[in-house]
Amino acid sequence: MKPDGFQEITAQDSPEKRLGVGILGYGFMGKVHSNALLKIPYTYQQPPALPVLVAMGGRNASRVRDTARRFGYPGIYTDWEKMVRDPDIEVFDNCTPDDQHAGPSIAAAQEGKHVLCEKPMALTAQEARKMWQEAEHAGIKHMCCFNYRFVPAVRLARRLLEEKALGTIYQFRVRYMQEAGRHPATALENIWYASGTASGVLLGIGSHALDMARFLVGDITSISGLKKTFNPVRRTLNGKEAHVSTDEGNMALLEFADGAVGTMESSAVSPGRKNQLTWEINGSKGSMKFDLEDLNHLYVCLEDTVRLDVRGFTKISVTSPEHPLQCLHLPPGHNSGWEYSHIHALAHFLDCVANDKPVAPYGATFHDGYVVQAIMEAIGKSMETGQRIDTTTFLCK
Ligand SMILES: NC(=O)c1ccc[n+]([C@@H]2O[C@H](COP(=O)([O-])OP(=O)(O)OC[C@H]3O[C@@H](n4cnc5c(N)ncnc54)[C@H](O)[C@@H]3O)[C@@H](O)[C@H]2O)c1
Repeated sequence: MKPDGFQEITAQDSPEKRLGVGILGYGFMGKVHSNALLKIPYTYQQPPALPVLVAMGGRNASRVRDTARRFGYPGIYTDWEKMVRDPDIEVFDNCTPDDQHAGPSIAAAQEGKHVLCEKPMALTAQEARKMWQEAEHAGIKHMCCFNYRFVPAVRLARRLLEEKALGTIYQFRVRYMQEAGRHPATALENIWYASGTASGVLLGIGSHALDMARFLVGDITSISGLKKTFNPVRRTLNGKEAHVSTDEGNMALLEFADGAVGTMESSAVSPGRKNQLTWEINGSKGSMKFDLEDLNHLYVCLEDTVRLDVRGFTKISVTSPEHPLQCLHLPPGHNSGWEYSHIHALAHFLDCVANDKPVAPYGATFHDGYVVQAIMEAIGKSMETGQRIDTTTFLCK
């Protein structure tokens, strides 16, 4: 019994639609996506929908139970085939390793769930294409979690590009650099790109860089690339010799449909680079640059807006109400962190589901995920043949 004066708040007091969410995977991304769902109601004054945590899935019952309990999930599944049939789950969020993206995502789509899947879409373009086609066939909303599209500074850049503020785009260069494999003596199990699914650096972080290229500059029509394994032999934790078959770094030359050219590079053997996704874009009327390690800022140089004696890059704090993706619970200059890219990404997807809005162009659909996958395959093909590859020959309608 509550003391006199207590006024109960009930579900009827909430104008927002409620959406049941199930997350498969309780590792890094399972936690990051759960954090995003939990923060949406107080990040946004008017949340697009209120997520209701339904269940968390994993293979190890005691581990998934421990995480789910702390985050407030009322239940768990240790079998995703059962999880995708839960009628209370309307949004299925696949946070498993790359080799588990296709199976559960397709099954969830076939059950009529809206599906959010972590990047890269899949291990192969063929698999990614099937995911896209099944999702389309099921008529559900689908999004591939290229979360860097949801960094406010990146969205401001996109807005300026939509407004043609930079004129004709000439050149774009993007790099995604990390350092997990920098020491040849690091054991295989401790290197994310070479252990587990072992999908390599291009799929792991190069996929983000390629998505940035497409998001900011547009369709990539041809590519030539190189992939490199610098430490083909490493040791396991118990001292056994192990062969590393995945790439540790890669580079590509890009040609865009609108005539721009670019470079893409990703590496996990770059000492000192914790998580540097950086790009620069040059056009006939100006330039812009961005660095994820300084994610609240966009650097802009516009040819016709400043005096010649102070002409150069201006550092913009992208934290004000006039900027994109401002949730307004943080006043201007109160910087947000990396996790906000996921909060905004999940809020966008819930908005699309609850209010029947399109995921594209600001979210990456499964088609975008598939196209990036095809481009990554083209980089491999270019490496094998030494030829520049027309990427459209890789895309199936
Ligand atoms: N967008 C980003 O910022 C970002 C960052 C890191 C990783 N990722 C991507 O997210 C995905 C997950 O990466 P992570 O770092 O969270 O991995 P992780 O290893 O930390 O977690 C993976 C989870 O999936 C579960 N899992 C694996 N196989 C399963 C199965 N068959 N059934 C049920 N559960 C299963 C594991 O138990 C674990 O809980 C990967 O595809 C990765 O590329 C995205």
